Amino acid sequence: MSTTTTCVVGLTWGDEAKGKIVDILSAEHDVVVRYNGGNNAGHTVAFDDGTHKLHLVPSGLFHPEVTCVIGGGLVIDPKVLLEEIRANESMATDLRDRLFLSDRAHTIWPWHKRIEALSEKHLGKGKIGTTLRGIGPAYADKANRVTAVRMGEFLRPEHLQPKVERIVRQKNEVFTKVFDDEPLDPDAVWEEYAAYGEQLRPMILDTTAWLHQAIADGKRVLFEGAQGTLLDIDHGTYPYVTSSSASAAGVWTGTGVSPRAIDRIWGVVKAYTTRVGEGPFPTELTGPVGDQIREQGNEYGTTTGRPRRCGWLDTFAIRYAATVNGLDGIVITLLDVLGGLPELNVCTAYQVDGKRLEAFPADPTLLPRVEPVLESLEPWPEDISGTRTFDDLPAAAKAYVERVEDLVGAPVRMISVGPDREETIRRD
Ligand code: GDP
Ligand code: IMO
Ligand code: MG
Repeated sequence: MSTTTTCVVGLTWGDEAKGKIVDILSAEHDVVVRYNGGNNAGHTVAFDDGTHKLHLVPSGLFHPEVTCVIGGGLVIDPKVLLEEIRANESMATDLRDRLFLSDRAHTIWPWHKRIEALSEKHLGKGKIGTTLRGIGPAYADKANRVTAVRMGEFLRPEHLQPKVERIVRQKNEVFTKVFDDEPLDPDAVWEEYAAYGEQLRPMILDTTAWLHQAIADGKRVLFEGAQGTLLDIDHGTYPYVTSSSASAAGVWTGTGVSPRAIDRIWGVVKAYTTRVGEGPFPTELTGPVGDQIREQGNEYGTTTGRPRRCGWLDTFAIRYAATVNGLDGIVITLLDVLGGLPELNVCTAYQVDGKRLEAFPADPTLLPRVEPVLESLEPWPEDISGTRTFDDLPAAAKAYVERVEDLVGAPVRMISVGPDREETIRRD
């Protein structure tokens, strides 16, 4: 069977370099589809000495033959999307003609960002540490139904205007009475957002029907996950998660394409683990080795610039993520960053009070008490960023990759040894 559809999904807490991998695989697909999240994502694509940071537009945009689709599972901030289209138009030829926005996708409005900032401030030390992009409140309104706006409603502004007015009035009750904050001006909000809607209108369509036809026509479709499985609303380290289906499960709900239509699911992991924001992180390194990884890996958030927390590769968590997603292959990224570390460990199991856990726990009070069981592996001193074949890697780096395959139980199909497109080793 020839491969026509692929899903690229993060296996941990995001920032696994999904953007780089999606860009590479885009050359072998006709359509690239984002299925979850919003502009909380920050996906980096680097080629020809240029670095491009994307938040909403699928990472296939620099391939002129590729159609980019933003599926119904997303929450779209119209202002951010327009800025991103404008910023990339000169590099991404004819982007407006080959970018489609689902009429089912939900939208982010000023009240979402405002309420999130107030809530995170109110929570103080107990905050989630979100990206403050309005993601959680927009998904909450989606579930609430009566205070949500879908992209398709921009096609019917005469219906949307009174609805927006009603929503603003309702949100203002909360701002003024609960938070003692200023009300929003419904006319000003409408004027601004109606203009965004007008600009986005030509790109809005029924992407579910469009994708069904594309697949029936034999088009090769690549699904691009945002965030990662441990940030998934259902399968992640709840409540320290994002508000969408960030695992491969999100393809079905977020695009209307059945999982039966997906030929392969590739999970992306860094050669170590990182996390931004709050929440449990069993293999976190808070000492000098963690600092060394942060500096060598330039581990500062693509979206918020926050320093990322760094730790050893957690194959116990990754094995769980591999099972949730039903992986066909692993992609290991940032392997170069481990070069020159004084020691190298991987976590193989979790222990609590001296007892090994059978399964990745759901209990948020248990995870912070987990002691990772570490296995020591041989570090390598070499800079491997110039290596292009698996055989040319130092023996210790090869052994590291092979140990990850054993521990996770899936083959490593690609290895990334630098940010650039070219800095990649393929094994597929
Ligand atoms: P994403 O959210 O999963 O797409 O990942 P991000 O773009 O947020 O973070 C990955 C970061 O690592 C970006 O700055 C990339 O340019 C960079 N990067 C990607 N692959 C490699 C690699 O193999 N080695 C190094 N050193 N950096 C990489
Ligand atoms: P990409 O696609 C890393 C984290 C936030 C916070 C939590 C909830 O680039 O991998 P949210 O704003 O989504 O409600 O924040 O999720 N988070 C990410 N961390 N990479 C991301 O996306 C993330 N998107 C959200 O830091 O801990
Ligand atoms: Mg990112």
